[in-house]
Amino acid sequence: ASKRIPIVAGNWKMNFDHLEATYFVQKLAWTLRDAHFGFRRCEVTLMPPFTSIRSVQVLIEADRLKITYGAQAVSVTNQGAFTGDVSADMLARLGCTYVLVGHSERRKYHPEDDANIVDQVRAVLAAGMKPILCVGESFEERRQGIELEYAVGQVQDVIRDLNDKEAAQMVIAYEPVWAIGTGMVATPQSAQEAAAAIRAHLGEVYGDDVAQQVRILYGGSVNASNATQLMQEGRDIDGFLVGGASLDADEFASIARLTD
Ligand code: G3P
Repeated sequence: ASKRIPIVAGNWKMNFDHLEATYFVQKLAWTLRDAHFGFRRCEVTLMPPFTSIRSVQVLIEADRLKITYGAQAVSVTNQGAFTGDVSADMLARLGCTYVLVGHSERRKYHPEDDANIVDQVRAVLAAGMKPILCVGESFEERRQGIELEYAVGQVQDVIRDLNDKEAAQMVIAYEPVWAIGTGMVATPQSAQEAAAAIRAHLGEVYGDDVAQQVRILYGGSVNASNATQLMQEGRDIDGFLVGGASLDADEFASIARLTD
């Protein structure tokens, strides 16, 4: 176990409108309270769709819950004629702590290439929030045995121009694409191997001090039954980015409890 504070992040993707979000946060708050969840070692964070962030914020503030939240994507520009976009400043104004950047679904369904992802990271950092950069190989790279090079390469392409201070703010989520929403979770060994390779790369570029500060999460079919082993065997794994299982308050609370 390291001194890094683990994060259990729930990526709701395109689920929960503002009413459902309100219901969910209340339920999660009660579940965590009933379980005497201590928030000792673990940060619980929610990533709702844009339209539900305000409801989540209001509840969290009203109840002084120790839950943080963030967004799933952000525009690279700060204001102006960009119909349909949401800026980093707008998200920071809503009290967001994190913004997911480069999730594989965004890379697939939107024109998000490395250059765009670099700009999103910059926008998030400039607005005082922390990017959660998602990387991970598809089945094809894994078949070729080049998954580590691939994931590390994705990190390298995005962080290369950051200074030490900026790099230390990064959270990196290793999410192998073949594991997302498939029920095929990476083995604890392979998740650890990827996290260790990413951390080693950070060490080469920024030195050990920065590398030891960066939180590296695992994502891809995480649930309450596989989280313990991933956490126990993953020296370099500092928590989880949870999709499907984050939509069930009891299950999400259990994953957080295992990590706390
Ligand atoms: O961002 C988290 C996500 O992509 C993983 O999804 O449903 O496999 O937990 P899931």
